[in-house]
Amino acid sequence: MQNLKGKIAWVTGAGSGIGEGAAVALAEAGATVVLTGRRVPKLEAVAARIGQHAHVQPGDMTVVADVNRVAAWIREKFGRLDIFVANAGANIPKRSWADMEPSGADMVIAANLNSAFYGVLAVLPMMRAQKDGVIIVTASMAGRFIGGLSGAAYTASKHGAVAMSHSINMQECVNGIRCTALLPGEVATEILDKRPVPVSAEDRAKMVQSPEVGDLIRYIACLPPHVTINEVMITPTWNRGYVNALRAPKL
Ligand SMILES: NC(=O)c1ccc[n+]([C@@H]2O[C@H](COP(=O)([O-])OP(=O)(O)OC[C@H]3O[C@@H](n4cnc5c(N)ncnc54)[C@H](OP(=O)(O)O)[C@@H]3O)[C@@H](O)[C@H]2O)c1
Repeated sequence: MQNLKGKIAWVTGAGSGIGEGAAVALAEAGATVVLTGRRVPKLEAVAARIGQHAHVQPGDMTVVADVNRVAAWIREKFGRLDIFVANAGANIPKRSWADMEPSGADMVIAANLNSAFYGVLAVLPMMRAQKDGVIIVTASMAGRFIGGLSGAAYTASKHGAVAMSHSINMQECVNGIRCTALLPGEVATEILDKRPVPVSAEDRAKMVQSPEVGDLIRYIACLPPHVTINEVMITPTWNRGYVNALRAPKL
């Protein structure tokens, strides 16, 4: 695997969960990491774990001006960006058609889909100029399969994120830019606290853990420039969807 020493990475949603796992793993491989999210104390705690190669740049990824400000800061400070992890995302408790509100749908679609679009639009000029760049979009299994758990706005936005990711490869491959749609199943992170049905500690312990997804992100970022992983799933072996299907009464 290629070492990331000298590489610049930008991770959104870096203050917790998968983003934190990614930031730490990329830094361990030698990258300088820019951390973005809205809660500054969370970002600073991750930066403290990483040390001098972490830079906190807070921002709301659903606000174009924030996204462009961080991208401009990266361009001025480093003059390049090698790795962009579009990871910020969110869900809501009121997620079924029975109880969803327009404001909830707006928030979920903006956090999962608009944020990724704004981020990619902001980083592409730097990557095109370099003729090199890795983009990793944290989508979801809910971006490939429609199930009951994630809610309509989340699954719709994550399907959009997967489609967006593939379209980047279709158009930007000639510029040395490669994009991976990363599709996690259940990962034990804060986002589970938004589930309408609380998730037990026992179930969380069986799920994929954030550092394991971080390791996968580091692996993708370390691949040689001529190799693209277009799409990858990472799920718990104890996949609750499969387990429930096995336990359901046979028709
Ligand atoms: N955990 C799972 O089971 C699972 C499965 C599939 C996909 N995913 C996806 O994985 C990604 C990371 O989620 P996670 O599981 O690690 O949960 P998490 O710990 O809740 O992380 C989500 C991160 O996104 C940030 N974020 C949310 N909205 C933002 C905004 N508008 N601007 C900037 N940052 C924002 C949050 O920070 P602030 O609140 O401080 O901004 C938070 O750090 C998400 O895209 C999620 O949809 C998770």
